[in-house]
Amino acid sequence: MANIYTGSAPGRVNLIGEHTDYNGGMVLPAALSVGLEVSLAPRSDSAVAISSSGYDAPAIRDLADDASGEWPDACVGAIREANVLGLLDGGATLDIASTIPEGSGLSSSAALIVAILKAARARVIEGPSDVDIAIAARRVENRYMNVPCGIMDQMAVALATPGTAMALDTKKLAYGLVPLPASHEMVVVHSGVTRKLTDGRYAARKEECDAAKRYFRTEDLCLLNWDTVSASDLDETPKKRTLHCIGENTRVHAAIAALDAGNIAAFGDAMNESHVSMRDLFEMSLPEIDALVASATDLGAVGARLTGGGFGGCIVACIEKGAREDWLEALLSRHPESRFIDAVSGG
Ligand code: GLA
Repeated sequence: MANIYTGSAPGRVNLIGEHTDYNGGMVLPAALSVGLEVSLAPRSDSAVAISSSGYDAPAIRDLADDASGEWPDACVGAIREANVLGLLDGGATLDIASTIPEGSGLSSSAALIVAILKAARARVIEGPSDVDIAIAARRVENRYMNVPCGIMDQMAVALATPGTAMALDTKKLAYGLVPLPASHEMVVVHSGVTRKLTDGRYAARKEECDAAKRYFRTEDLCLLNWDTVSASDLDETPKKRTLHCIGENTRVHAAIAALDAGNIAAFGDAMNESHVSMRDLFEMSLPEIDALVASATDLGAVGARLTGGGFGGCIVACIEKGAREDWLEALLSRHPESRFIDAVSGG
């Protein structure tokens, strides 16, 4: 019988720093307790045979298949990449067990690709590092699946450790782990609106950023000066996107400093300001999500914001530990279409 190799990866929630990861800026994601596990049996033919709980499996694909826009693409792309990295020599039989809700902006796709690559790495004695796995996983999304995402999700699910947030500089790929507060929880609530990164709105935002990059002749919109950008005659839309990137990057630094200093109020302020910027400057929110975020703070959260790629998915709210149960009950009864996903904290 063929050997079986396993790999796992958590989902992630981004605490702050949205759409900065392809604009030279900082992000602050944290691993969730929901996650997925993959078992992989190498094959000598070129088939990728997938069964799973949590996705609509089983599916059979071939390594030579082009991406189809369906979820097995992540598996085929990951196995192709594992071949490029010399970890496999052919197809694989995969079994996936996942507790990450799809279409929620919690990186189910990055987790699946990273877990497959880690399972394939278990075959060899000296394999690629976790950072190299993250970079390879992004290649699968960018090149095979045609999803123009940044590097945050792959780095977070390949490297994040429970109880900490990852302060990641996406330009340098340097990171530090910041302990989460023990007194508060970061609660993830699904808005009830699902979305896909492939639906075109993410790509549209990226193109608007690209226009600003051409205008300012830089890859790093986050590092530009607010006054210079405001005073420029760049078109209104790319200008707003750029101003979001600059402000958001500053807020990530402020949020990290606030966590380091144990200043939860300042951390919450950064989250709230981030939501306003995503709503008004990056225009990636929806009325349902704005209402959910408003209720979250109204009912006692120190801060709350949309998290992930936008246009649906989840919010994250910072709430005192003892207050979570009542807060959540009130929030979910005010927004019956929303649902609790996970909560992370330190200590
Ligand atoms: C998605 C992408 C990330 C990042 C976020 C927005 O999750 O996969 O690379 O751009 O959106 O911050």
